[in-house]
Amino acid sequence: MKIAVIGSANADLVTKTNKLPKPGETLIGESFFIGEGGKGLNQAVAASRIGGDVNFFGAIGKDTHGEFLLESMKKNNLKVKNIKICEQIKTGIANIMLCDGENSIVIVAGANSKCNIEYIKSIKEKILECDIIVLQLEIPLDTVEFIINLAYKNNKKIILNPAPAIKLSKEIVDKVSYIIPNEHEYKVVLHTENAMEKELEKYPNKLIITNGENGVWYFDGKEVVNIPAKKVKVIDTTGAGDTFVGTFAGAIANKFALKEAIEFGVKCSGISVTKLGAQGGMPYLKDL
Ligand code: RIB
Repeated sequence: MKIAVIGSANADLVTKTNKLPKPGETLIGESFFIGEGGKGLNQAVAASRIGGDVNFFGAIGKDTHGEFLLESMKKNNLKVKNIKICEQIKTGIANIMLCDGENSIVIVAGANSKCNIEYIKSIKEKILECDIIVLQLEIPLDTVEFIINLAYKNNKKIILNPAPAIKLSKEIVDKVSYIIPNEHEYKVVLHTENAMEKELEKYPNKLIITNGENGVWYFDGKEVVNIPAKKVKVIDTTGAGDTFVGTFAGAIANKFALKEAIEFGVKCSGISVTKLGAQGGMPYLKDL
């Protein structure tokens, strides 16, 4: 099955520090690097590295960050013929502060904001050649809603990672096949105060909640199931959720049953946190 990931691509500007600065404070950091990122691109790369047939659709600027990302997309075997290259706006960036393995991120959308409905209409046929559509919320919400309506009408499997979290309409949530927020995001996205277990029961085999080192939770129609994560030495959690979503999509494309697909995703995201960078630790098939 072919996978289409439609979403953001960012240059991750990562500063490693042993303390996060307070407002007005200047600190000396430990190191700096520029890595490939963006939730959309991360998920596409994660799916491709484990053998998925992945088309990536999104927008980058005609600049050095854009060239850097495009080169890396090709190295990761993504199909990128239909990517949009913008002249007037820069490639999206994420400013990431990495401290004790945890991260704080501020993104500037840049060209990701041009991943608009007009662009999607122009590549509609290419998207519909794919069987599974993977989406996140770092491109405009009306674009995501347009794609979900299009994919739903055409009986595609839709995997939505609603991050960064915003409140979604019931109509949109109803149309997706799997929705994968984390333990904080689900409350915002589904506008609920329910505890995780109660909310999971409302969406059997559909709502999948990632919960960091505690693994992943879903309701199988009879009981709430936890797929635990293995204990590992954490170097960088950036992109762990993206690794889960991308490798889960790859497993679903390979016709794994839901539980097996979640177990596979949990295993892959556990490996991803053991190296630096959103994509630095994403496993290849040979690592598994
Ligand atoms: O999920 C991690 C990603 O979020 C980073 O790569 C960064 O680019 C932001 O989009």
